Amino acid sequence: MIPMTMEPMNMATTDMTMVNMTAVKILVLAGSLRRGSYNRQLAGAAARELALAGVDITEISLADFPLPIYDADLEAQSGVPALALQLKRQFMIHHGILLVSPEYNASVSPLLKNAIDWISRVRERGEDPLPAFSGRVFALGAASPGKFGGMRGLMALRQVLELGCGASVIPQQVTVAFADRAFDETGHLRDERDAAQLRLTLRGLIDAAQRIL
Ligand SMILES: Cc1cc2nc3c(=O)[nH]c(=O)nc-3n(C[C@H](O)[C@H](O)[C@H](O)COP(=O)(O)O)c2cc1C
Repeated sequence: MIPMTMEPMNMATTDMTMVNMTAVKILVLAGSLRRGSYNRQLAGAAARELALAGVDITEISLADFPLPIYDADLEAQSGVPALALQLKRQFMIHHGILLVSPEYNASVSPLLKNAIDWISRVRERGEDPLPAFSGRVFALGAASPGKFGGMRGLMALRQVLELGCGASVIPQQVTVAFADRAFDETGHLRDERDAAQLRLTLRGLIDAAQRIL
């Protein structure tokens, strides 16, 4: 939900002008289902900023797309689950996708990796391989109670997307360290440096998405 009491983001430092933004469609999703998840909070903060910038924003939860752990035997027997197809179609109708993932043992959350693996198996009639990952741009974010803010997990996620799926991932990314203290009670980032890094990443995502309109 987008609270109406939000202050607009700092236009001077981010140049988040609203010109031509309405055509840009951006999908935001977090790789955690945990109640009180820091990554979900970061995804929510990003969604609010994007909405304020005039972007057509869709925020989804992987809780609404429960998928079995990928198993090639299961796929051979039953095909790709309907929810994986729906998720893939969500990717297809957006120009930009922001993935916000926790870091687990220096890698991607299994929830997000499993979703990506299933999506990578969907190929509808006439489509080239990995259609959900081409023709759109990706940006990454992470939040962790640790001091690196989930940065190592994002290196792994970048590899999965770029090398594994052939996706285009913008160089800017946002990592929120000490995330247990980083958000206020309304879900906003307390530290201006974190907020600025988020805006920079979103600015890069919007610019890259506009280039493929
Ligand atoms: C199995 C496991 C491995 C973890 N590994 C890391 C790690 O490598 N780096 C890190 O910063 N945090 C690690 N954490 C801590 C997570 O960052 C922390 O649980 C975080 O709150 C998860 O994200 P969420 O708040 O969005 O659910 C790990 C947590 C678990 C359960």
